[in-house]
Amino acid sequence: MLKNLTEFDDLLDSVLDPVLWVVTARFGDEQSGLIATFVQKASLVPALPRMVTAIARHHYTWSLIENSQSFALHLVGEAQLEWVDRFGLHTGRTSDKFIGLHTTRGTTGSPILEDAILWMECRVEASLDTGDRTIYLAEVVSVGTGPDDRPLRIKRMLELLPEGQRSDLQRMTAKDITLDTAAIETWRAGKRSPGRS
Ligand SMILES: Cc1cc2nc3c(=O)[nH]c(=O)nc-3n(C[C@H](O)[C@H](O)[C@H](O)COP(=O)(O)O)c2cc1C
Repeated sequence: MLKNLTEFDDLLDSVLDPVLWVVTARFGDEQSGLIATFVQKASLVPALPRMVTAIARHHYTWSLIENSQSFALHLVGEAQLEWVDRFGLHTGRTSDKFIGLHTTRGTTGSPILEDAILWMECRVEASLDTGDRTIYLAEVVSVGTGPDDRPLRIKRMLELLPEGQRSDLQRMTAKDITLDTAAIETWRAGKRSPGRS
């Protein structure tokens, strides 16, 4: 028997055990990327590939996607565990996350990580503001593959991550939950009383 919604949320994460992605974007001279689990294939038609992702509106990468209307998705392999700390536990506002990595620039300008299992460059076709996040539906405009590896999933990441980074992740998640709670509540209040800011 589950005691509360936090336990249920933990159960959901454990059952789903999502794979990790790096979402990169560039606008002008600025570039960044973040770790995301909210990435989904969104078209059945091989000739018309589409993906959906959701990016929190307080992340630096979000502002780059908003401005460029494009991004690149990279499937993370177990050999790239280091990307969790690099892309997921720090903001690109204050440091260059790409130093020392094999990168190229895609047709949309988005940075491409050549050591990802596979990557896709995407152009935004529609977006939905949900308060805490923006959900992007995007057309896939180019694709590529890198080294063969097993995709890194949340459970395996938690097994492999050094203790210090696990604590950083817990702290960061707690901070994001506070920010997201306020953003969702503000958004819902706006929906209930349209016209009021
Ligand atoms: C395992 C994991 C999963 C994450 N999933 C998402 C996600 O789906 N969407 C999102 O916006 N942020 C997600 N994040 C948070 C961002 O990766 C993180 O805050 C990042 O440092 C933001 O970088 P930026 O400010 O340079 O954009 C996740 C982080 C981790 C470690």
